[in-house]
Amino acid sequence: MSMEWQGKVAVVTGAGGTLCSVIAAFLAEKGMKVVLIGRTKEKLEKTAAVIQSKGGVCRIECADVNDVAALTDIANRVAAEWGPCRILVNGAGGNNINAMTTNTAYNPVEITSDKPEDMRGFFDLDMDVFANVLKTNTVGTVIPCQIFGKQMVVAGGGSILNFASMNTYRPLSRVSAYAMSKAAIANFTQWLAAYLAPANIRVNAVAPGFFVNERSIKYLRTPDGGLSQRGENVMQHTPMKRFGEAPDLLGCVEWLLDDEKAAFVTGITVPVDGGFLSSTGI
Ligand SMILES: NC(=O)c1ccc[n+]([C@@H]2O[C@H](COP(=O)([O-])OP(=O)(O)OC[C@H]3O[C@@H](n4cnc5c(N)ncnc54)[C@H](OP(=O)(O)O)[C@@H]3O)[C@@H](O)[C@H]2O)c1
Repeated sequence: MSMEWQGKVAVVTGAGGTLCSVIAAFLAEKGMKVVLIGRTKEKLEKTAAVIQSKGGVCRIECADVNDVAALTDIANRVAAEWGPCRILVNGAGGNNINAMTTNTAYNPVEITSDKPEDMRGFFDLDMDVFANVLKTNTVGTVIPCQIFGKQMVVAGGGSILNFASMNTYRPLSRVSAYAMSKAAIANFTQWLAAYLAPANIRVNAVAPGFFVNERSIKYLRTPDGGLSQRGENVMQHTPMKRFGEAPDLLGCVEWLLDDEKAAFVTGITVPVDGGFLSSTGI
């Protein structure tokens, strides 16, 4: 079944972020009524301003994607005022520096009394912080799928887009919790695609390569705008020799969400990575 986007409701979590602010604006440009979800009102207001300056329709709904009651309340109000959600983009996610090791591999000093104060090895990782990263990136995708997916079922169909990562395929150093959670996203995308196919709902994921955002800029760039050591490493493994920009995702996002163009496509994760996964760097 193809679905005309004009006037239909799209829900975008993480809509104040680097990637999904652009995706939300894109969906609004296509005529969708876009629900912008995130925890920080100011970030969502910036996205809303861009959308409204181009005559698009959107609304700001502040919530944590792990908060079932808050999301249920949003879903009920949106359905009553705008109609059911037909497209869901699960962009909320991220990492926490305290869930990352400072060293890329085990260093014998990390279990001695000589361990530098600023060193955080695997054995030091705080499990509450670690679990919180897992939760936001996994359950924080599952909950919106439950709440907004149910509206799609009742409406007769829809499309869901999740966010995987290069970590989905092989874990990057230092970011164990994040990597584990993004591997889970590809798995859940397949599971939910199979489950919801009879309900005429397609579920896919995009796996962005390296797109500089507020968090990753600290690891990928130096304060003067050059490349950090990690940024150099990424570039060496990226045949197209640049970081991604949010608009680079739009063709893939449009295709995966479109019920005509991707009518027989469900359960896949598509890398948009400038060739990163194809290159061994050797
Ligand atoms: N940038 C990349 O290179 C890259 C690569 C691969 C995958 N990804 C994935 O792509 C997605 C978007 O990334 P991005 O670069 O746009 O990141 P971003 O700029 O940090 O945006 C993520 C947004 O998610 C929101 N968020 C985080 N936790 C939330 C929660 N518990 N509840 C509600 N909202 C929450 C944040 O806003 P608040 O803090 O205000 O809530 C933030 O605006 C993420 O899933 C990310 O992991 C990014």
